[in-house]
Amino acid sequence: MRNIGRPIRKLNNLTNRFIMPLLTVAVIFSFVLVALGSWNAWQISQSFKLKVTPEFQLQRLSDEIIYLDEVLTMSARMAASTGDLQWESRYRIFEPKLDTAIKQSIAIAPEAFANPAIQTDEANMKLVGMENEAFKLISQGNPEKALSVLFSSEYEKQKRIYSQGMLKTNAALQERVRSNLDFYGSTLSWSSLFSLFSLLILIVAWGTILVLVNQYINYRRLIEKKLLETQTKLENTNESLETSEAALRQKAEALEKTMKDLKQSQTQMVQNEKMSSLGLLVAGIAHEINNPVNFIHGNVQYIQEYSEDLFNFIHLYQKHYSEPVAEIQQALKSIDLNFLQVDLLKILKSIKIGSERINKIVLLLRNFSRMDEADFKKVDIHEGIDSTLLILDYYLKSKPACSHIEVIKKYGDLPLVECYAGSLNQVFMNILTNAIDALEETSFRSVNPNESNQLAQAQSGQIQIRTSLIDLDWVEIVIEDNGMGMSESVKDKIFDPFFTTKPVGKGTGMGMSISYQIVVEQHGGNIECVSILNQGTRFNIRIPLHQKMSQAEYIK
Ligand SMILES: Nc1ncnc2c1ncn2[C@@H]1O[C@H](COP(=O)(O)OP(=O)(O)O)[C@@H](O)[C@H]1O
Ligand SMILES: [Mg+2]
Repeated sequence: MRNIGRPIRKLNNLTNRFIMPLLTVAVIFSFVLVALGSWNAWQISQSFKLKVTPEFQLQRLSDEIIYLDEVLTMSARMAASTGDLQWESRYRIFEPKLDTAIKQSIAIAPEAFANPAIQTDEANMKLVGMENEAFKLISQGNPEKALSVLFSSEYEKQKRIYSQGMLKTNAALQERVRSNLDFYGSTLSWSSLFSLFSLLILIVAWGTILVLVNQYINYRRLIEKKLLETQTKLENTNESLETSEAALRQKAEALEKTMKDLKQSQTQMVQNEKMSSLGLLVAGIAHEINNPVNFIHGNVQYIQEYSEDLFNFIHLYQKHYSEPVAEIQQALKSIDLNFLQVDLLKILKSIKIGSERINKIVLLLRNFSRMDEADFKKVDIHEGIDSTLLILDYYLKSKPACSHIEVIKKYGDLPLVECYAGSLNQVFMNILTNAIDALEETSFRSVNPNESNQLAQAQSGQIQIRTSLIDLDWVEIVIEDNGMGMSESVKDKIFDPFFTTKPVGKGTGMGMSISYQIVVEQHGGNIECVSILNQGTRFNIRIPLHQKMSQAEYIK
């Protein structure tokens, strides 16, 4: 867009700085010049009318005067020649007309008549005098004399004077016409010159405007072309930008997902590592205890038998030697043989029970530590739960607030379940620790006297574990606590990785997410959470009895 900016600026500059002002000036100028020209033409036509009309009139009057004069002369001479006085009446008709024509001429152009008029007037008067005399002579019946008057040298002389005067008048009139025409001509020339000049200016102005407009149009075309090019380029760039942006967004999303997965698997690995370390530790302890306990358990039976044999033997002695020596009697008294026999057998029995219990514990511990087993195996789910509870027993007892927690087991009749025992134990462990935490939180909060109604609930903190077979292919394990429960918003997020409501250092937010993964993804089961705030939480775990794929396949 940068390379198009300059021509557009230039175009705007051209339009704003030159074309528009010039166009305005040219239009105003044209108007002024046309108005001036029109006014001038009108003026000229007016002056032409004013000047030329009287000139024509004068010319006509001059011709009329000459004609009338001739008519008068001829009428007088005809009257004299013929003696017919009708010519006189004709004369009388034309005489005032000549007078009027002369007066009119003087009125129009007094200067033209100024000098010759005196001459013609005088001659005219004399001629009229002689003509009247002639008419008088005719009426007296003396036409010959009248004729001699009218052809006399005096008459001819006056006639000449008159005609010379008229010639002068005509010349003066002509001069007047010429001078008027000259003036008109010069005015016309000036106005033509002015019109020509105006025309020239207009041609130059409009020419310049045409050039500028042409330039403007060319520029516009160029800019439009460039704009189109730029637009196409921009569209192309936009398209490629959009494509690369979409690709980048996709990459970023993929990266974000990878990061999330990585973080999750890292935490999961740490968790797994912890669990397997715990498993190893438990397995080690179980192994170490197993031998000596077996040793004790195996030998207690013999001790019992041997002791009974020994007592039977003593009783046999007593029977056959009822009166022993004083020293034996003394010793018998001091050891209280009867009590010793009863007590020893009791002790041996309790040792037996104790060792049996240790044996059971070792078995449970071994059960719990089956995490390293790399494939699905048919196991007793109850054993897994019991071993987890055993491990947690210590955790429970270590918290004074939780020492009153009661664990109620309601085990159904379950077949062996094909599963990854170590992982399932981890699920039980996660859910049971959360339950213990929830109960601990509840009892902790109930210390507040305002919440005394919760005290009773807190004092009878319970965790119920129920198992059952639902239809032929699925087992259900329900773990329920009457702890603090969860709000809807918390419940919606518990399976999200890293979601925790516990303080930093205590919660990782991975327990439920890993449990979900183990139950749903690893075992193809499902896990459901039902929770009511301040009342408790229940987890329903359903696992199929048989697995469709092996653990090795799952890992792949
Ligand atoms: N039984 C329960 N009672 C109340 N809240 C629970 C219960 N089990 C899980 N939660 C809630 O779910 C959250 C996530 O649990 P979990 O994934 O195990 O992470 P963590 O225990 O590290 O916080 C807990 O922080 C808690 O708020
Ligand atoms: Mg947890």
